[in-house]
Amino acid sequence: MKIAICSAQAHDRHFLAAANAAGEHELVFFETRLSAESVQVVAGFPVVCAFVNDVLDAAVLQALAQQGTRLVALRCAGFNNVDVPAAEKYGIRVVRVPAYSPHSVAEHTVALILTLDRKTHRAYNRVRDGNFSLDGLLGFELRGRTVGIIGTGRIGQAVAEILHGFGCRLLAYDPVQNEACKATGVSYVTLDELYRDSDIVTLHCPLNKQTHHLIDAVAIHKMKRGVMLINTSRGGVIDSKALAAALKSGHIGYLGLDVYEQEGDLFFQDLSNRVIQDDVFERLLTFPNVLITGHQGFFTEEAMRNIAQTTLENISLFARSGQCRNEVTRDLLR
Ligand code: NAI
Repeated sequence: MKIAICSAQAHDRHFLAAANAAGEHELVFFETRLSAESVQVVAGFPVVCAFVNDVLDAAVLQALAQQGTRLVALRCAGFNNVDVPAAEKYGIRVVRVPAYSPHSVAEHTVALILTLDRKTHRAYNRVRDGNFSLDGLLGFELRGRTVGIIGTGRIGQAVAEILHGFGCRLLAYDPVQNEACKATGVSYVTLDELYRDSDIVTLHCPLNKQTHHLIDAVAIHKMKRGVMLINTSRGGVIDSKALAAALKSGHIGYLGLDVYEQEGDLFFQDLSNRVIQDDVFERLLTFPNVLITGHQGFFTEEAMRNIAQTTLENISLFARSGQCRNEVTRDLLR
């Protein structure tokens, strides 16, 4: 099929072209992020392949349907950027890659935790500058610390398994309890108990109506003073405006983000020669105990290969039979 690949980076070209080595599909790459302003670029493509920050709201979906698109193939797990009822209304099927490698995101989560704890990012710069002082680099042992995991699906479970190996005490909150997590020693508690008892709180739930701004000023103040807060799920789960005040007061002791509420205007592009206009983001970068990565949790060879392969398999099945595997429907919104 003729596929328009939006928000395409060099690595997307590489992995999707490799997965399409037999030439089954015609891949056309667009660097442009899909939005109401750019939607005409993909006119006439029956399949549009989109990523995390492409906009698939009702207006874009209506335009896509009018332009002849029948399938949106997300090359990611999260689908918070898609207006699913609107897609159904306009007759566009939506598929995704629900599980490409939860370990990639889980390992990045633990990288953020260890870096913030042992301050290796600061040590790296110091040593290169000939500064061998240890002042300000004091860390703590993970062994015996309590970690609260919000969302124990595929990624939350992988995080639990890794941190179990570090000797952490594991608490979790999820409306659906995961038996494998329980077997790893995870105790399910209420959100308030998790906030109260955790030294580290890490977010692995999807972004939806229930989780939007789940972590706001009120939730943060239920957490321990000096808590480490980690978010590798979706930016909108945290009210980012509440973060600077909590960092200034010391209530949040460490903040690790791989995702950011307004990341669509920032991430996946080189803005190093521009003045960034997002004051909340810029303020966060001024704190020494904040570490932000630009949505790279998924970005490993293994995950990229799996994403490319599953994305094209999803499209091939649709092309052959009109059937959808890994379909995003209203049922997933419940
Ligand atoms: P999953 O669907 O396997 O697990 C999500 C879990 O969250 C489920 O167990 C679900 O019951 C739970 N959940 C739903 N509502 C909740 C609530 N209100 N409070 C607590 N838990 C709730 O998803 P998976 O694969 O583990 O991914 C989790 C999230 O990670 C994705 O939705 C996506 O937004 C994000 N992600 C981030 C990546 C990155 O590169 N940083 C890459 C892949 C996913």
